[in-house]
Amino acid sequence: MPGGVRTEWLAETDSTNEEARRRALAGERGPLWIAARRQSAGRGRRGRQWADLTGNLYTTGLFVLDAKPGEAAQLSFAAALAAAEACEAVIDRERVRLKWPNDVLIGGKKVCGVLLESGSAPGGGLWLAVGIGLNLASHPRDVERPATDIAEEGGVLSQDAALERISSSFSAWLERWRTHGFGPLRDAWLARAWGIGEPCIARLQDETLEGVFADLMPDGALRLDMANGQRRLISAGDVFFPGI
Ligand code: BTN
Repeated sequence: MPGGVRTEWLAETDSTNEEARRRALAGERGPLWIAARRQSAGRGRRGRQWADLTGNLYTTGLFVLDAKPGEAAQLSFAAALAAAEACEAVIDRERVRLKWPNDVLIGGKKVCGVLLESGSAPGGGLWLAVGIGLNLASHPRDVERPATDIAEEGGVLSQDAALERISSSFSAWLERWRTHGFGPLRDAWLARAWGIGEPCIARLQDETLEGVFADLMPDGALRLDMANGQRRLISAGDVFFPGI
């Protein structure tokens, strides 16, 4: 149990994020990584489902922080970096990239997604559920959103080894974030970013915008520079890079 971080494996649950939320509301304060071999109701960003495919990693880290939800949201970049570092243990580093906001890609295809959820902890502070789904052995087939998995890319990473790497890497990022703020996270994320300087399409709740992915802002928003000279800061949505 390095650094007092616990790990708990479940044979099956509805969603590890939901399990973390239930535990947080019952007073659990972590740090605890809950992982499940199977998920019957895994959830993704923007109300999407997350498929339950045999052999993949479904896990959620539960932490209680003295932070506001907006600040804690920066840790979604730490989760993506931790997952990328786990991939880099078995996959050529050059092929592992991060796509805004927190997808991990291998060779341009999604291998991992992150879902952060939070709320007020009963004993004070903010509970944060850091949900990570990492495709180790299989991936969904979806032409709109090309995906891959570690085995398909020639790597071998077990569920247990992947969780161990993610847990220790996330703890290190959390510590750096607590000490230095978002700067080091932002720098590390940008060093692996997919599509910086590239034309992209941003799909937001009510509109679709086209422009160039110009920067990652200090609050984690994406800066989109549009042809009409406007700059838009995007905090929630999906981006697509048609040319790469
Ligand atoms: C995304 O849409 O890209 C985020 C997907 C996050 C999926 C993981 S799997 C473990 C955890 N439990 C959930 O229900 N969702 C997250």
